[in-house]
Amino acid sequence: MRILSGIQPSGRLHIGNYFGAMRQHIELQRENECFYFIADYHALTSLPEPKALTENSLNVAMDYLALGLEPEKTVFWRQSDVPEVTELTWLLSCVTPMGLLQRCVSYKDKVEQGLLPNHGLFAYPVLQASDILIFDSELVPVGADQKQHIEVTRDIAIKFNSAYGEIFRIPQERIHKTVATVPGIDGRKMSKSYDNTIEIFEPEKSLKKKIMRIVTDSTGVDEPKDPDKCNVFALLKLFAEPDEIEQWRQRYTKGGMGYGEAKKRLAELVIECFAPYREKRQQLQQNLSQVEQVLTDGAKKAKAAAAETLRRARQAVGLGA
Ligand code: ADP
Ligand code: TRP
Repeated sequence: MRILSGIQPSGRLHIGNYFGAMRQHIELQRENECFYFIADYHALTSLPEPKALTENSLNVAMDYLALGLEPEKTVFWRQSDVPEVTELTWLLSCVTPMGLLQRCVSYKDKVEQGLLPNHGLFAYPVLQASDILIFDSELVPVGADQKQHIEVTRDIAIKFNSAYGEIFRIPQERIHKTVATVPGIDGRKMSKSYDNTIEIFEPEKSLKKKIMRIVTDSTGVDEPKDPDKCNVFALLKLFAEPDEIEQWRQRYTKGGMGYGEAKKRLAELVIECFAPYREKRQQLQQNLSQVEQVLTDGAKKAKAAAAETLRRARQAVGLGA
């Protein structure tokens, strides 16, 4: 099956990105034809700092490669190295009703959180539709927050196809039900834009500090606690084995346990989970030209596929020969 997904290099990748998206991306490589990219055009909608954008992109690449992305198998590239996608965005924009974009909650959320309401941010879902459609993607593995963007992609593809003929494949999202949305240390959705993340490769010291800062309620140590309302428990569930999760659930509901204790265990589990990948991550850091080479090779393959779809779409709308 043809699988595609992207992650914005708008900051360091965090455990929300890992459990919501990256872990499934890596697993899916085994039996599918996968296309994964670093969505730097998308990040530009919210990150007007050239140096940070370049650095973050490389960091995203290193994180993916360290965690098990296999470039011999999977096409992996930087979005802006395949500018064909922006031309297709324009063709798609011309069949996209304004109302469709006005209904998108992620634009409203981002503006509410203080991002500048520029046109790129508003038109973001059309660029995302282009990413997906230009590679004939069938399945798009993402976190729950992206569901609406995939629905918009389908709407745009259907509109285009009904106007110009069957040019695009209609994609489906794939969302991990048990993960849904990973909370950040302040209890909101963990997000690079909210400064509330625990990074995958966070140095141990600051990782422990951040975990100790996770927001909890003021229930006293002796009192029973509701695990399903606790951010620490929500994170423990991602890392611990089922038996251990059950034990924590019982300790919460019985009372006599402080949140500090659960936080300490969480820090241990996070460190343990990513320890096997740290060395590979360091090796890549020492060998940036190898990382660049992977992205350059990936872009070549991605460009060939994108150019073919773009040619079909241009012809369908009556542009050029
Ligand atoms: P961010 O909000 O940190 O900028 P992105 O928008 O780049 O993250 O998301 C990259 C991928 O990670 C997407 O598939 C998204 O759904 C997933 N993701 C991001 N944050 C979370 C979260 N807190 N919980 C689950 N999945 C998430
Ligand atoms: N909008 C996605 C996010 O914020 C990133 C993204 C851009 C993407 N283009 C994509 C995800 C195409 C899947 C497919 O997470």
